[in-house]
Amino acid sequence: MCGIFGYVGSENASPILARGLKNLEYRGYDSVGIATVSTRLEIRKGVGKIDDAKERLRLEEARGNVGIGHTRWATHGTVTAENSHPHTDCRDEIAIIHNGIIENYYEIKKRLLERGHRFSSETDSEVIAHLIEDNLSNRGGAASSNGSSFEHACVRAFQELRGSFAVLAVRQGEDKIVAVRKDSPLVVGLAENGTFFASDVAPFLEWTKDVVYLENHDLVVADRAGVRFFDQDFAEVKRPVSTVEWDLEEARKGNFDHFMLKEITEQAETIQRACVQDMAVVERIASMIRSGFGVFFIACGSSYHACLTGSYLFSKVANLHVNVVLASEFENYEHFLTDRTLVFAVSQSGETADVLEAVRAAKRRGSRVVSITNVMGSSLSREGDELLLMNSGPEICVLSTKTYTSQVVMMALLVCSLKGDPEECVQRVKGLYMDIYNLTSRSMRERLKDLARDLAGKDHIYMIGRGLQYTTALEAALKVKEVSYIHTEAFAGGELKHGPLALIEEGTPVFVFVSRDNEDRIVSNAQEVKARGGFVIGVSDWNSPVFDRWIKVPDCGDLNPVIQAIPMQVLAYELAIQKNLDPDKPRNLAKSVTVL
Ligand code: AGP
Ligand code: GLU
Repeated sequence: MCGIFGYVGSENASPILARGLKNLEYRGYDSVGIATVSTRLEIRKGVGKIDDAKERLRLEEARGNVGIGHTRWATHGTVTAENSHPHTDCRDEIAIIHNGIIENYYEIKKRLLERGHRFSSETDSEVIAHLIEDNLSNRGGAASSNGSSFEHACVRAFQELRGSFAVLAVRQGEDKIVAVRKDSPLVVGLAENGTFFASDVAPFLEWTKDVVYLENHDLVVADRAGVRFFDQDFAEVKRPVSTVEWDLEEARKGNFDHFMLKEITEQAETIQRACVQDMAVVERIASMIRSGFGVFFIACGSSYHACLTGSYLFSKVANLHVNVVLASEFENYEHFLTDRTLVFAVSQSGETADVLEAVRAAKRRGSRVVSITNVMGSSLSREGDELLLMNSGPEICVLSTKTYTSQVVMMALLVCSLKGDPEECVQRVKGLYMDIYNLTSRSMRERLKDLARDLAGKDHIYMIGRGLQYTTALEAALKVKEVSYIHTEAFAGGELKHGPLALIEEGTPVFVFVSRDNEDRIVSNAQEVKARGGFVIGVSDWNSPVFDRWIKVPDCGDLNPVIQAIPMQVLAYELAIQKNLDPDKPRNLAKSVTVL
């Protein structure tokens, strides 16, 4: 879940680490730390976000051309300076940073404690540093023509770990970084001034666009002379170099106060880019859907909502039933999978552990997998049989905004392809350009800011819709709750009377998502709310007497889930601002959820 970053090269590492970590902060922001190697190993670490820590810990003053840095999202052990990474061995000569979970850490720790090692944190990660130390002192890490004793000690340590991990290790007196990855992201950047390691490409884009995406279990040794790749048995292997297409500017805030607002505003264009696909691949996938015996969509969070939206589109437009399952619940459905089943795995980051686990289960049963992701080189982009990229550019805010609408558009594209007319979707998406431009304009933001002022003090907000408007309500509720910390729930309009109506009191805000094709029923539901004193906010292209407030959006039929989500993203953003919260980094959350 955390961000890891490493550099070895001709420059002083610490300023590069501080800059790189800032770019990775969206992945975790409990605490931060770096280790650099010059004549000795220097560690600076503490609780807090990078900007505070940079000053307080004087990160940039650490010396050495080799350095590793970490921004943590705690899984094992509370948020304290001791638990922040890097972690060291007993003699403070070896330092490691780790992203993921070491599942067998307890048994390793027990053994190492018996052997006299002293631990200073509650984390699972610390065992890695002690294991390397133990291997060195056991001479299990004896040097060979193939590598130094430190490298061998690392290899043996990494071979013992179970779970998910991307690890960078350094040692006093050694001018190198030893790295490994298994089920956690790690990419290598090859630049003129040195070699970079990072959880994603964004932090080293300003130095290089040449990148090596590592395979699972790959081990990498980089020093000032260059970089070498090994498999898990420490046999040297070749890895291809790819060029990143993302632009550095896309990963910067520009004139915007927050990434969230920037990314919301980009949607007029990003949904167009979602349609730019190799149509031969789209058609091939459409025929896989036609011939598949059972189609599953698996995802989490907003990606799950996009899949649910897709299921309504498949049913309504292409007369096809598809199953949508939360990736974390997929194990309950695995036994339905055969070699004729088609599984769509949808994940913005391409690193969501629940999704990857489901993909691996599907592959074990011989099912074919189509990956839909935004991140080229991510685990998901490499594990499926077919790949569709969202083309949204980097999404830095922890909340999904532009990637959500791109996913919905890709669902619509697949549905139109099934009907034999993908171009229809492309044209309709083109037609949304001005609508989105208006929905993200300054005047619209002012109106939503006004509404946010009225809602910021509320404890509960509810949202209702039917059909495609129900899935939109689910996504809108997720956006509002995760960024404003206001309890927000969505219900299918028809379900109100089966329970949730009991929650409505005088003044309870209820958003009602309306489309032309189901307006009568949902307006009746709004009346039921109003009759209990609820405060009704309509999201529709016409104003109804039942609405106390009205968010005007054009009616775009099957693409309403795109159009109606956008003002709700803006509202969520404005609620965070009203409440003085950081919209890019909501508490307790991380962008890339690489743990189960
Ligand atoms: C939503 O805004 C996110 N915070 C979160 O729910 C996200 O959609 C989920 O974790 C899935 O991520 P993915 O698309 O990268 O797999
Ligand atoms: N499991 C480790 C910890 O709790 C690493 C978590 C992370 O990936 O940030 O410190």
